Amino acid sequence: MENNMKDIVNLCQNRWFVYAGSEIYGWLANTWDYGPYGSQLKENIRNLWLKEFVQKRTDMVTLDAGILMNPQVWVASGHVGGFSDPLIDDKNTGERFRADKLLEDLIDSSDDAGEYLKEKYGVNSLIPEAWELAKQTEVMRGEQVKNPETGKPGDWTDAKKFNLMFQTSQWVTADSSSVIYMRPETAQGIFVNFANIARTSRKKIPFGVAQVGKAFRNEITPGNFIFRTREFEQMEIEYFCEPGTDMEIHKTWKNDCMKFLTQTLSISEDNLKLRDHDDDELSHYSNATTDIEFRFPFGWGELWGIASRTDFDLKAHMAQSKEDLSYFDPVNNKKYVPYVIEPSVGLTRLFLATICNAYTVEEVRTYLKLDPKIAPVKVWVLPIVKKLWEEAKKVYAQLSEDFVCEYDEVGSVGKRYARMDEIGTPFCVVIDSDNYDAGNITVRHRDSMEQEIVPIEQLNSYLTGKLK
Ligand code: GAP
Repeated sequence: MENNMKDIVNLCQNRWFVYAGSEIYGWLANTWDYGPYGSQLKENIRNLWLKEFVQKRTDMVTLDAGILMNPQVWVASGHVGGFSDPLIDDKNTGERFRADKLLEDLIDSSDDAGEYLKEKYGVNSLIPEAWELAKQTEVMRGEQVKNPETGKPGDWTDAKKFNLMFQTSQWVTADSSSVIYMRPETAQGIFVNFANIARTSRKKIPFGVAQVGKAFRNEITPGNFIFRTREFEQMEIEYFCEPGTDMEIHKTWKNDCMKFLTQTLSISEDNLKLRDHDDDELSHYSNATTDIEFRFPFGWGELWGIASRTDFDLKAHMAQSKEDLSYFDPVNNKKYVPYVIEPSVGLTRLFLATICNAYTVEEVRTYLKLDPKIAPVKVWVLPIVKKLWEEAKKVYAQLSEDFVCEYDEVGSVGKRYARMDEIGTPFCVVIDSDNYDAGNITVRHRDSMEQEIVPIEQLNSYLTGKLK
């Protein structure tokens, strides 16, 4: 697949999807702000996720927990002790990298690189993240791995663990403060509220809790535009179930997540694949994890992690807080600590995937073939000539009752079509006097570029049908 990432980033920046953060101050590297169309697209994706996974189900509720939490939460969850990536510096330049990522690139650099490394260094997996730090250092030096920025072999320090949590401090008294953390995942807000939700929601296991919100990680190598950032949004579900039912429910969630991507968001199946984690790759809390990977222009990358988290988190919080988080199951008359299945997707990463999936280059135009349901603007209203602005504004008023619309009278009709195509607007309505006087309007379709005459009074219901 061609790496057209640069063109996609340009389109996002020029067409009001994403701006460089704090741009007038020369940017704060790897921070991004979501512009008028970007924030709308993000909201549409979030709303569809909520609709599919909460509104349409009887076994789901939502939560909006705080970003700042008692630091004990992160001790119990293992983040204070273990949420780290292997950091390595090139002494020649002072640049920092993730050792495991550089080693992954080395393994991918040729068909036999993996076997060669296994034999020479005695590593028994091709997942460098699972290797001891000393082994990562040995291979980095032994293979004279290149610094990707300079293209020359680096003078590598020892690989060491770097904790990814963002620290801040909270003033306790006038002259003392205590360290607190910006949450690195939204999940823990759900675990610490499990007993509250079980008690007040009247849901019986199995049930799930969905949450959308910001998460922060001090990533060593953020990049690839909004793929990996230090501030991002997650959409997470913790689905609580009886121990022993976890594997079956894990399977169901994999299917449901794939269905959401392919059917609700219309992401092409060719751009998606499921990848099961090997045993030595599994997180400390997981007995099975599957990633849905997306074919980004720069290569396959994790989009959605579906982890079976056992009872690790609830038990860890029980031990740390001394509170009882077990559940009495009235159906089986049993008390147990529930197991958890966790489908977790980055909203901002999914945003990027939908744009990459929709980016379409044809001979005469480049456009975003977004599913109409997520398109930031549904209808673009344009008078064929400026003097029809009054009629066009009436049509705009009628349509904006039901849809996000845009009014545009500037430039030739062709240029206006090109603008709306690039933003992914599925429909354009054109006002010309002959049709308007006869009570009709022309609807132009983004994908086929075909035009259709529709009675003005039926326009809203006609478009509602098309947007379903
Ligand atoms: N609660 C589990 C959890 O946080 P994760 O695999 O670390 O698991 C889940 O993250 C999802 O969050 C990823 O699949 C990805 O979509 C998104 N994500 C993680 N780190 C990210 C980052 N630095 N920037 C953007 N999205 C990120």
